[in-house]
Amino acid sequence: MKKLIAVIFALMIPGAAFAAGPAVPLDKAHVDVTNEAALQRGAKLFTNYCLSCHEAGFARYNRVGRDLGLTEEQVQQYLINTTDADGAPTKVGELMKVAMTKAYGSEAFGAAAPDLTLVARVRGTDWVYTYLRSFYKDDKRPFGVNNTVFPNVGMPHVLWELQGRQELVVRTEVDAKGHEHEVTELKLVEPGTMTPAEYNQAVLDLVTFLAYLGEPAQTERKVIGIWVLIFLFVLFVFAYFLKKEYWKDVH
Ligand code: HEC
Repeated sequence: MKKLIAVIFALMIPGAAFAAGPAVPLDKAHVDVTNEAALQRGAKLFTNYCLSCHEAGFARYNRVGRDLGLTEEQVQQYLINTTDADGAPTKVGELMKVAMTKAYGSEAFGAAAPDLTLVARVRGTDWVYTYLRSFYKDDKRPFGVNNTVFPNVGMPHVLWELQGRQELVVRTEVDAKGHEHEVTELKLVEPGTMTPAEYNQAVLDLVTFLAYLGEPAQTERKVIGIWVLIFLFVLFVFAYFLKKEYWKDVH
């Protein structure tokens, strides 16, 4: 019974079920979905670097634009890079789809690039944040990269120009009790166009955008929640005095 309860709890924590496997510690992503500037930067990175393979097929450009404080013209200018079958730019009212088919993706990358609308909720924001910063050089892989949190991943390191190239360094450490441990570390061997701090910030912006995408109404939901609590409190005061009034003659 205890085991069953533990399993149910594990399944309720996003990402916990997937994060199992080789235990790679995840870095904490301090996501703030109310940060509009971060969301806008994340959306731009997403449409520039991810939407060519992955889609966000449950989101529409104009809804995203509205939530992120962008006009339809800005959405058209900054976020839409795709065209329809006739070559006309994708319209703002359309879903964030890609032209690449699943079958082509599977053939080219060994695995289809999944839809990313809900990825931050399925995997957890810490997982996605760590994943996008954990590609390293591995000549045995088709694209020359591997990933510590997603071993033998089919995705190439599409942000390598920004981050640079990392190598996996394995060291043996001896702890206080004299036991030997293997410690793996990622070392930047070739700098990218961004410093490590800038790259972490860019990935955080991207993850912030993905967190928003997974639940576009989340900020609104929290504001509504506060009003509901205020309403219940006022109702409680009235109900209390009403109860006193009703019961005052009952002894
Ligand atoms: C060149 C195509 C391509 C591009 C561009 C690309 N990806 Fe991927 N991505 C893939 C493929 C293929 C997989 C599936 C890998 C596998 O299952 O081995 C994947 C997997 C993922 C996963 C893991 C999904 C899961 O839950 O299994 C995440 C997260 C992800 N990509 C995020 C991104 C982000 C964010 C970007 C933009 C910065 C991006 N990808 C750009 C091809 C791509």
